[in-house]
Amino acid sequence: MESFTGKLAVVTGGGSGMGRELVRQLAAQGCSVAACDWHADEVAAVAAAANGPPGVLVTGHACDVSDEAQVLRFRDELLGRHGRAHVDLVFANAGIGGAGSFVSDNRDSWERTFAIDFWGVYYCARAFLPLLIASGDGVLVNTSSVNGFWASLGPGMPNTAYATAKFAVRGFTEALIEDLRTNAPQVRVAVVMPGHVGTDIVGNSFRAHDRDPEKLTEDQLNEMIPADARAGLAAAGVLAQDASAEDLRRWLIKMASDFRDNAPVSAAEAATVILDGVRSGAWRILVGADAVMLDERIRANPEVAYDYAELFKGLGT
Ligand SMILES: NC(=O)c1ccc[n+]([C@@H]2O[C@H](COP(=O)([O-])OP(=O)(O)OC[C@H]3O[C@@H](n4cnc5c(N)ncnc54)[C@H](O)[C@@H]3O)[C@@H](O)[C@H]2O)c1
Repeated sequence: MESFTGKLAVVTGGGSGMGRELVRQLAAQGCSVAACDWHADEVAAVAAAANGPPGVLVTGHACDVSDEAQVLRFRDELLGRHGRAHVDLVFANAGIGGAGSFVSDNRDSWERTFAIDFWGVYYCARAFLPLLIASGDGVLVNTSSVNGFWASLGPGMPNTAYATAKFAVRGFTEALIEDLRTNAPQVRVAVVMPGHVGTDIVGNSFRAHDRDPEKLTEDQLNEMIPADARAGLAAAGVLAQDASAEDLRRWLIKMASDFRDNAPVSAAEAATVILDGVRSGAWRILVGADAVMLDERIRANPEVAYDYAELFKGLGT
């Protein structure tokens, strides 16, 4: 696929971050887009603001990708709005973080993260594969992460629900390569593995788990960061020894904005890398120098993946 002009793309999680930038850039390149998000107002605003050449239609739809019935409704709704019987591209991009610890985080939160990050991708593949086959030249683009090949965020930062789901997304997508080659050669797949990209994913993930720091009570803040975790943060110099619940609130809000504002790659740059990768025919799309570095080091020496001193040797971390 050398050009997106005249095509129809589906983008999940189009209300923010990389999804929003994919919508904008696809439209600017002459591609019609049906974008969904469970924040319906946000994706509607993205669709309304997207600019493309004459003939480009961008629609926003409400859909929680972890609910198969909603994904099927989204599919039927977009085919009607766009007046088409097939889609050319599907970007299964929606995702959240959270529930890092299998040991101490709440089971519902763990399963919520997994359901969105894996089952959301799976339901989209189920719903849209026949329409990609009908395109005759379809591409399914599933977003995993560096946590699809490295199951940690570093010392003291377990990331179990997210990494389990992102490994599954990568495994599922790679497994589809041979399946599609054999059974549906009109469709190809690509797996996207971003490193740190400047988006609102931290704040949006707090919201998704009903943990928006702006709205938490003192008790909830204290429960969210228990005494031992607080002691660890104090030892790392992140929080004062006697940090109050309000200090915790400010720290969580700042952590979310720092993640967005201090990233090596912007959401717009990431979307460009993804679209360039899809156009080039790549099946594995790494986003950012951090992703490339981790991939190279772990492939070269898998045993050091969780020995952080070795893994990051020579990088000054
Ligand atoms: N930002 C990063 O550093 C980074 C790194 C690696 C992978 N990723 C992955 O990239 C993808 C995009 O993330 P982002 O950083 O742009 O985050 P983001 O929070 O800015 O955007 C994600 C969007 O998905 C939506 N969403 C979440 N759950 C949904 C659901 N159940 N149904 C429908 N929409 C839902 C959110 O409302 C949001 O609009 C995610 O899959 C994420 O895991 C991000």
